[in-house]
Amino acid sequence: MATSKKRILSGMRPTGKLHLGNFVGALENWVELQGEYDNFHLVADYHVLTTDSEHSDAILPNTLEMVRDWLAAGIDPAKSPMFRQSQIKEHAELHLLFSMLITKNRLERNPAVKEQVRDLGIEDLMTYGHLGYPVLQAADILLYKGNLVPVGEDQLPHVEITREIARKFNRHFGDVFPEPDGKVTKFARMPGPDGRRMSKSLGNTIFMSDTEEDTAKKVMSAITDPQKVRKNDPGRPEVCNVFTYHTKFNVAEVDEIATTCRSGELGCVACKKNCAAKMNAFMAPIRERRLQFGKDEDVLNILVDGEKRGRLVAQQTMSEVREAMKLG
Ligand code: TRP
Repeated sequence: MATSKKRILSGMRPTGKLHLGNFVGALENWVELQGEYDNFHLVADYHVLTTDSEHSDAILPNTLEMVRDWLAAGIDPAKSPMFRQSQIKEHAELHLLFSMLITKNRLERNPAVKEQVRDLGIEDLMTYGHLGYPVLQAADILLYKGNLVPVGEDQLPHVEITREIARKFNRHFGDVFPEPDGKVTKFARMPGPDGRRMSKSLGNTIFMSDTEEDTAKKVMSAITDPQKVRKNDPGRPEVCNVFTYHTKFNVAEVDEIATTCRSGELGCVACKKNCAAKMNAFMAPIRERRLQFGKDEDVLNILVDGEKRGRLVAQQTMSEVREAMKLG
């Protein structure tokens, strides 16, 4: 796999099935970047433990569901190794060494962790491991000498910490690591049918693995412009969730839909039916591909193979790190 291509290191925490927000906000970009870059995809299973260490038994089944969605989306296991953090011990080792290179103060100032602590209401319960979340993430990225990290905007503070750690390491011990750039994904926000951010915890998701019927049902129940009560009332596409779906899944008709919605010619029921059909057409090849990866065993084998390939890179980096640090 020796190429001069730049390397992408991207990762997700395995919390189970992915929804269209994950697909559009992240996965689709990974697939797109697959030819241009050398892609490594990480299952951040240790990161799950930073906020939920009690339900570790859910991690493996959730990993398999998530990786099945990656494969369905078109991540090609021959090109892009996929691996679990927990299966490559070098993550833990580099995390330990990096934890010496950053102050506790700096980690406490990290806005991404602050926000998470606030959302989860765990101010007084924060663990040492959770505070170190971005240090582990830095190890994930730098172990593979990632140049580019495609992430949501909320993750940029973590990437900044990664850059700081890389700089500090290089300054003290010699040039081992690149300073990676974050790449914010372009279609970052996909609303759920109820208009709030699509999220499993809010129960408003359209899953990548939903059937055509379920997808259509969810679209038909979506909230549209509250001022468009009757079919022929003029609507405001800019406040309508279904319109946001059209901008993604039905690009060809977007202008016409906006015009006819505003003029009152297009009613919500017809608009939603059309939207569901287009969404289903968009998802059809993904559903088709998903059928090839139905068996857990096959998904697991893909991970085990990715882990072999990832481990080689990780081991090489660790020997450079040990040598630079004169650890023998
Ligand atoms: N923190 C990331 C998230 O919650 C997941 C993650 C872990 C990650 N390690 C990473 C993302 C390395 C990019 C690179 O989405």
